[in-house]
Amino acid sequence: MLKGCFNRRDLHQPTEILITGATGAIGGALAKLYAKPGVTLHLQGRQQDILQQVSRECCSLGADVNIYCIDLLDTTALLTWLKHIDDLSPIDLFIANAGMNINIGCESLGENEEEMAQLLDLNVKATLLMSGYLAKAMRKRGRGKIALISSLAGFYGLPIMPSYCASKAAVKAYGEGLRGWLAGSGVSVCVVMPGNIQSAMCEAMPGPKPLMMTPESAARTIVRGLANNTARISFPFPLNLGSWFLMLLPDTVSQKILQLLGYTRPTK
Ligand SMILES: NC(=O)c1ccc[n+]([C@@H]2O[C@H](COP(=O)([O-])OP(=O)(O)OC[C@H]3O[C@@H](n4cnc5c(N)ncnc54)[C@H](OP(=O)(O)O)[C@@H]3O)[C@@H](O)[C@H]2O)c1
Repeated sequence: MLKGCFNRRDLHQPTEILITGATGAIGGALAKLYAKPGVTLHLQGRQQDILQQVSRECCSLGADVNIYCIDLLDTTALLTWLKHIDDLSPIDLFIANAGMNINIGCESLGENEEEMAQLLDLNVKATLLMSGYLAKAMRKRGRGKIALISSLAGFYGLPIMPSYCASKAAVKAYGEGLRGWLAGSGVSVCVVMPGNIQSAMCEAMPGPKPLMMTPESAARTIVRGLANNTARISFPFPLNLGSWFLMLLPDTVSQKILQLLGYTRPTK
């Protein structure tokens, strides 16, 4: 885990928090951790019933909750929605968490173009556009925090899911750029790179899944990292180190390691 250059505990506790993908494992766990009196949670997802369930749990913990059942793939509608929320309740913590995964298929025939387009629209386009919009709004206000959920898969491209890895590398690079741009403005940006976390998405992903964590445990690590303004919240440590080495080693060595570990063929 790398520490940011301005590594100090934030003086401000966020009170207006927007989390996308709050119907999912990590998003839901984050919502419940932040839920308390004095906090308003703005939770997005596509499944109304799950959103309502998460909302009830967060309300019972004392938070005010607004839910938004929308698809993030419509970027025009997305920005209108975001502007509306931020005008009414200026967001001071944005967690760009919604995401999807695809793979090369059980016969290794390659990714489907339609799915690739959706993945890029959600994981990259929607994430960057929302973060970019809120970065400018927060900068004007002189305060705020943006957390971009990338993945350890963003360090080195895995043969079984090249587009997902590329999307998470893009999110990582964008977050690093934003953090530098906003340094000294009162707005902080953290890139979150989790390993394997129990969720529907992780379950559907082929390949080995070592050091699996619960979403609750992952959410605690993320919340702690955000409070400390850690530039890169990457975990768990051994997987973080391994993924980082894949990036540093000569490509032939990295590819061989991935082959030996079973990341080249999508067997479950
Ligand atoms: N689980 C892992 O091992 C792992 C590791 C590293 C990084 N991550 C990242 O963590 C984030 C959360 O993943 P998760 O593991 O919690 O997965 P998850 O339980 O499957 O949740 C995915 C979330 O994304 C939302 N979503 C998907 N497509 C959407 C769309 N078109 N428009 C709006 N929302 C959409 C889902 O909403 P609905 O369910 O309501 O459709 C759901 O809330 C993702 O960005 C993922 O890449 C996960």
